[in-house]
Amino acid sequence: MRVLFIGDIVGRTGRNAAAAVLPRLNAQYSWDLCIANAENAAGGRGITPAIAQELLAMGIDVLTMGNHTWDNKEIFQFIDQADYLVRPANYPVKVPGQGYTIVEKGGKKTAVLNLSGQAFMDLMDCPFAKADELLAKLTDCDYIIVDFHGEATAEKVGFARYLDGRVAAVIGTHTHIQTADEQLLPKGTLYITDVGATGAVHSVLGMEIEPVLKRLTTKLPQRFVAAKGPGMLCAVLMDLSAKTIRRLAIADE
Ligand SMILES: [Fe+2]
Ligand SMILES: [Fe+2]
Repeated sequence: MRVLFIGDIVGRTGRNAAAAVLPRLNAQYSWDLCIANAENAAGGRGITPAIAQELLAMGIDVLTMGNHTWDNKEIFQFIDQADYLVRPANYPVKVPGQGYTIVEKGGKKTAVLNLSGQAFMDLMDCPFAKADELLAKLTDCDYIIVDFHGEATAEKVGFARYLDGRVAAVIGTHTHIQTADEQLLPKGTLYITDVGATGAVHSVLGMEIEPVLKRLTTKLPQRFVAAKGPGMLCAVLMDLSAKTIRRLAIADE
């Protein structure tokens, strides 16, 4: 059972990078299931129905989200009908959408969960307790993959160790910078602290550099815009049966 997990797709540059790289990648490797974090797909902030369709048309099966879930209000038009879309399961109140989905691909039943960290993030319910609650429900799945959307490396590593042996993979998202620690944990869970982003190479986390520098140097509010120019795709390719994980960072040209 091979799974491609693509890191946060940022804006049009990220979507174009995915569209350019995926066919090439698919010819070289192949996978049964493709998951992508899409919290930044619409201009860096949120997602729209049209963009969700654009991503599905590339062969992506499941879209995960994060702290930018609600940034584009168009999500409210379709989130409750979108069985392929998951937002963090540990929002502290009942919100639209779902925190996990189950897909049947490659002859296996795989649950994809989205959970947010608490460190340096919006106020969220405990992701550890929420994971316990969801895992108790998902006993009939062959595999469980968790997108853990977090800022702090210690929390991400700790979360993965907490779930080691109980899920097939914990894939970190949100920082947009790929970490070099992809590994098989001792009890059998595949892990990477952050899969990285799919977006503009010359950017700050996929956004235009100048407004970010202006805000950093003056502290004045700025409008951040998704950056253009050459793009790259960051992902991990996993074989859940063989328990291998491989990091990919591929330019779109
Ligand atoms: Fe992101
Ligand atoms: Fe995020």
